Amino acid sequence: MENAVKRIGVLTSGGDAPGMNACIRAVVRSANARGIECVGIRRGWQGLIAGDIMEMDNASVSRIINRGGTMLYTARSDEFRTLEGQKKAAATCKLLGLDGLVAIGGDGTFRGALALSRQAAEAGEHLQVVGIPATIDNDIGCSNYTIGFDTACNTAIECIDKLRDTMQSHERCSVVEVMGHRSGYLALYVGVAIGATAVLVPERPYDFEKHVAEKIRRARLSGKTNFMIVVAEGAASGMAVGEEIRRELGLDPRVTILGHIQRGGSPSAKDRVTATRMGYEAVQLLAEGKTNRIVCTSGEQIVNVDIDEGLAMTKTLDPEEFEVMTAMTGR
Ligand code: F6P
Repeated sequence: MENAVKRIGVLTSGGDAPGMNACIRAVVRSANARGIECVGIRRGWQGLIAGDIMEMDNASVSRIINRGGTMLYTARSDEFRTLEGQKKAAATCKLLGLDGLVAIGGDGTFRGALALSRQAAEAGEHLQVVGIPATIDNDIGCSNYTIGFDTACNTAIECIDKLRDTMQSHERCSVVEVMGHRSGYLALYVGVAIGATAVLVPERPYDFEKHVAEKIRRARLSGKTNFMIVVAEGAASGMAVGEEIRRELGLDPRVTILGHIQRGGSPSAKDRVTATRMGYEAVQLLAEGKTNRIVCTSGEQIVNVDIDEGLAMTKTLDPEEFEVMTAMTGR
């Protein structure tokens, strides 16, 4: 069957995530294997407005599958939020002869892809767009997994395991703030994996007495003298929780904000493989003439949904996983 597209662009946008490079590689190699040309757009939507491009052939994506970050750079663009910016981006696509685009990132990236697709359609241009979810937050409603989440969890776990050594030696309380934007997935997984005393997630309203003080008390009563409190950035500020522990419980906690270190590092096997499968699927969709789709996971399967529908979907924490976390932290 003939490909519906001849030349496609690929870009990464929003916060970077480990596995983005593996995804770019998969898009380029899947396209080339089908005889579709591929153009790299640097610096996300801002780069598309500016025509900041690079040639992408199989060799250009060699030795990146194991690298964190994104070889195409990423940015958050205010200009692209305006109609004028979207028109400029559509004009770049026309100038370059792009008839397809793969946008790798989070929900802001998908909103951008949809806006671009509408602008191109209004201008009478043929431009198919497909989004791929990549964010350490795992907060995309239509996909139960997003590229980068597994690596970010492992990075946080490695850091907290190190913290635990010194906290145990000093018999201290440690408060660790992890990323996740408005989602508690990262905190929940990390909390379960490190055996946290308490885990605070934005999906459950913060109650210091119930979710922190009582957990620490019970741990102390069971003989523990060091406590690990994991706080999702969207639930509370690690600093504020530390202060409350000092004030209300008389402990001398240490607060660590893991911050952007969670976004770096070599992607895990899960992220490399998922990114590669998603990149392959995106090119397949474009080749088949599909547009306005988000590649996503349903269980272990790679599937796809309409962008509009996907963006309207919301995600809550998995009830079974939340239940396990609650049980492990003493209810
Ligand atoms: O969306 C990914 C993420 O790392 C969030 O977890 C965090 O809230 C945000 O990006 C940080 O963004 P910035 O890189 O702009 O500081």
